Amino acid sequence: MATEGRADAWHGPIERGPGETVKTARPAGKCFADGKSFLVTVSGIFLYALSMTTSPPLSRRRFLAGSAAMALAGCVSTPNRDPDVVDMTPLKERAQRKGLIIGAEVSAPLLTDPMFAATLTRDFEMVVPGNALKWGPLERRKKAPDFHNADAIADFATNHGMMMRGHTLLWHDMNPKWLPKHLADPRKDAAKLIRYHIQTVAGRYRGRMHSWDVVNEAIEPKDGRPDGLRNSLFLKALGPDYLALAFEAAAEADPGARLVFNEYGCEWGWDIGRQRRYATLRLLENLLSKGVPIHALGIQGHLDPGSEGSMDTRALGQFCDEAADLGLALQVTELDARDTSLRGSIETRDRLVADAYARFLDVVLARPATEAVLTWGVTDRHTWLTGHFPRPDGGIVRGLPYDADYRRKPAWYALAAALDAAPLRPGK
Ligand code: XIL
Repeated sequence: MATEGRADAWHGPIERGPGETVKTARPAGKCFADGKSFLVTVSGIFLYALSMTTSPPLSRRRFLAGSAAMALAGCVSTPNRDPDVVDMTPLKERAQRKGLIIGAEVSAPLLTDPMFAATLTRDFEMVVPGNALKWGPLERRKKAPDFHNADAIADFATNHGMMMRGHTLLWHDMNPKWLPKHLADPRKDAAKLIRYHIQTVAGRYRGRMHSWDVVNEAIEPKDGRPDGLRNSLFLKALGPDYLALAFEAAAEADPGARLVFNEYGCEWGWDIGRQRRYATLRLLENLLSKGVPIHALGIQGHLDPGSEGSMDTRALGQFCDEAADLGLALQVTELDARDTSLRGSIETRDRLVADAYARFLDVVLARPATEAVLTWGVTDRHTWLTGHFPRPDGGIVRGLPYDADYRRKPAWYALAAALDAAPLRPGK
């Protein structure tokens, strides 16, 4: 159960350096793709390709059938397998057609890389800072917050007409070193400090955030509490009341933002997954019944296709439905799929990663309450997975839509196909 206890796997920030580069050969002269048009010289493939461009949406079955046809015809000879879906319409156009939002996690330095910026703005219409808004990176020195990275991301979003999510106001991890001591000190007012932090950070970006992960990963059944709450530094200081306090402070600071409760492990098939879902739903039900302003449930979606039992699509679907019944919107906030424990060739692993995307997205996007999908990064060149879930062979982890050389991978095509297959959001 490699994913269980995942929160123990990292200890504070790891700076993501440039990843390794995987060199792959392009197929010689059989497939050409330029934007939305294409030229395919294999006749069988031509017919398939034609049908793809004339009759959207693309179902997953058709996507897979198409892949098989392409592979059989020998058109696809690289690990990248482009183009599986011949229509190269950017992901954001596919999402917009369905009234959905597609976004990606970024860091400020990456936005100055022209290749990264071009890829990001072509496919995505929302950004979320991976670390820049976490309390630790923001306020290493007490009372001296440093917003320059978060501001750079917000400015990039504004300049490129993109939306932004905030991640995250309260998390048990990546906090300033001085914080636990301060919160534990009975002479200090913990509630006041937490409220002040939230008001300062959410207030700074008032009117600019589509949504905020107000509280991240507050559930941990293994901590042994009957309510399944994580015994975090916030809980130790204030008890479960810290949750209502956080959402209320965020609502005051940025009344226009959608306020999100963000969790991981929502799709796990193991018993701990069931416990996590149960605790999350009961907590949300309770908070909402007291009028606490929570608008959406964030489903992180860090998938682990190499780990048996890591995804129970039926349980995930039911969880989504129950959250929607509480009146909550749903967002996929951190999608990626590690290939850490997958064996086989790169091509095989990429297929399995794409299949995990497809299985997960099919369930979540079928729910009308789902409003956004964000991947946790864009390219395997810059992914937290390689550092946090290293492959035994030391290679980069290939969990994102683009490979380290910015080529679309099967995961990109799976995302494209899932967006195409998603029903139109109600009212859009
Ligand atoms: C990760 C970042 O991507 C890494 O750079 C950092 O070292 C650790 O945190 N769930 C979350 C995110 O909610 O904040 C985490 O981000 C990934 C898991």
